[in-house]
Amino acid sequence: MSQPLDLAAIGTPPTFKDALQARLERWYAHPGLYRWSLSNPLTRWLTRRRTRRLFDLMAGFVHSQVLLACVRLDLFRTLQQAPADLDSLAQRTGLAPSVLQRLILSAVALGLLERRSQGRFGLGPLGVPLAQHDGIGQMIEHNHLLYQDMQDPLQFLGNAWRGGMADYWPYAHAKPVPAAAGPDMDKFTRYSELMAASQGFVVQEILSSYFFDEHRCVLDVGAGRGRFVSELAAHAPHLKFKMFDLPPVLALASENLQAKGLQDRVSLHPGSFLQDPLPEGADLITLVRVAHDHPDAVVLQVLQKAHDALPVGGTLLLAEPMAQSDQEAGPADASVDAYFHFYLLAMGDGRLRSPQELSDLMKAAGFTHIERVANAMPIHTQILLGRKSKCLPSYFGNSVN
Ligand SMILES: C[S@@+](CC[C@H](N)C(=O)[O-])C[C@H]1O[C@@H](n2cnc3c(N)ncnc32)[C@H](O)[C@@H]1O
Repeated sequence: MSQPLDLAAIGTPPTFKDALQARLERWYAHPGLYRWSLSNPLTRWLTRRRTRRLFDLMAGFVHSQVLLACVRLDLFRTLQQAPADLDSLAQRTGLAPSVLQRLILSAVALGLLERRSQGRFGLGPLGVPLAQHDGIGQMIEHNHLLYQDMQDPLQFLGNAWRGGMADYWPYAHAKPVPAAAGPDMDKFTRYSELMAASQGFVVQEILSSYFFDEHRCVLDVGAGRGRFVSELAAHAPHLKFKMFDLPPVLALASENLQAKGLQDRVSLHPGSFLQDPLPEGADLITLVRVAHDHPDAVVLQVLQKAHDALPVGGTLLLAEPMAQSDQEAGPADASVDAYFHFYLLAMGDGRLRSPQELSDLMKAAGFTHIERVANAMPIHTQILLGRKSKCLPSYFGNSVN
C-alpha cells in the first residue's frame, strides 16, 4: 500500500519497524562505526557510497551550475559537430583557457563531456541527449528561475509564490485565469513553447505504452500548443481530436495545427475547466501534465467534468510525473521527487501526487477499473487509466499497486 503524500492525513500508531529504525539510527551515529566500517573490506563500499551520496547532495548546486554554464556556452552542440581542444573552445566562448578548463574538467567529472585523443574533448554519455534534444536545454535554463527563487530555502518555504516561477505560470495560483490574452500573452506564449519543447519524452512514453486502436476521438484537456495531439495524429491516423485549453493558448495551437495540416482532424475548444464544462463527443479524454499544477479540489472538479463529458464505456488517461518514493524503484529514482515537490510549490498550489492518490481522486470522480499502465521511463511520466462504467467498481480494479 503506498503512502499518501499529504502527510497531514497520516495518523498510524508506531510499529516494530519504527523501533528498528530508531535502533539503526543510534547505531549509525556511533562514533566508532565509521572507522570500523572503512577498515572492513565487506562494509567499506557501503560507507563510501553513503559518503559519496551525501557529498553529491552538498555539491548539487555546483553540478547544476556546471550544466547551465555548458548549455549557455552551447558546448554540447558545438562538441557534437566535432571534438575540440581547450584553446579552440576558449576562442569560441571568449573565456580564458585557465578558467574554462575548470568548467570542462568539471563537465568531464560529471559525465557530460569526455576526454578524446590529442587533448580534445567530446560529448560524454550524459552530454549526448543534451546535444540532441533542445527541450532539455530549455528546461535547464528554465530551472534557473526556480533556483533563484530557492536561493534562501527557508525564506522560500515561507513565501513560495512570490518569486519568478510563480510569475512565469499565470494560471497556477488561486487567482482568476484571464479569459483573453491581454498583457499576459507573452507569458502564455513562453510557457506554451517550453511545454511543447519538453513534452517529447512524455509523448513517447504514452505512445509506446498504450494502444489507441479502440478509440475514435480523443479530447486532450490542457492540450497546450498541441504537440501530443500532433504526434498522436501521426501515430494513429484513424483518430479525430478535440483540444481544450485556455483561449490564449489555443490561439497559439491553431497556427501550429494549420502548419501541420491537421485542421480537419482537430477541433479547438477554448475555455477554462474551472468555469466551463468539457466538450462531449470523445471516447478518450487525456490529461497530460495537468493535474499536478492544481490543488485536489480543482483536480477533482476536472475529473468530474471529464467523467460527465465521456460516454458510458469511455476512458480517461492521466499521464504526469508521479511520486516515486513509495515504489520499488528505490532511492535512486525517488530523489526526483524532491525536484517536483519544490518545482510545483514554487509554481503555485499544485503538488506531486502518488499513483494511489491520483487513482483515489479518479475514483471519487466516478471512474472505475482504474489501472496503472506500465511504462519504460517513469521519471518522465507515469500513466493511469480509468473507465466510465455502468458496472460496479471491481475491488481489484481500483488498486493501482
Ligand atoms: C503544464 S501545461 C501541460 C501542457 C501539455 N499537456 C503538456 O504536457 O505539455 C498545463 C496546461 O494546462 C492548461 N490549463 C491550466 N489551467 C487551465 C484551465 N483552468 N482551463 C484549461 N486549461 C488550463 C495550461 O494552459 C497548459 O497548457
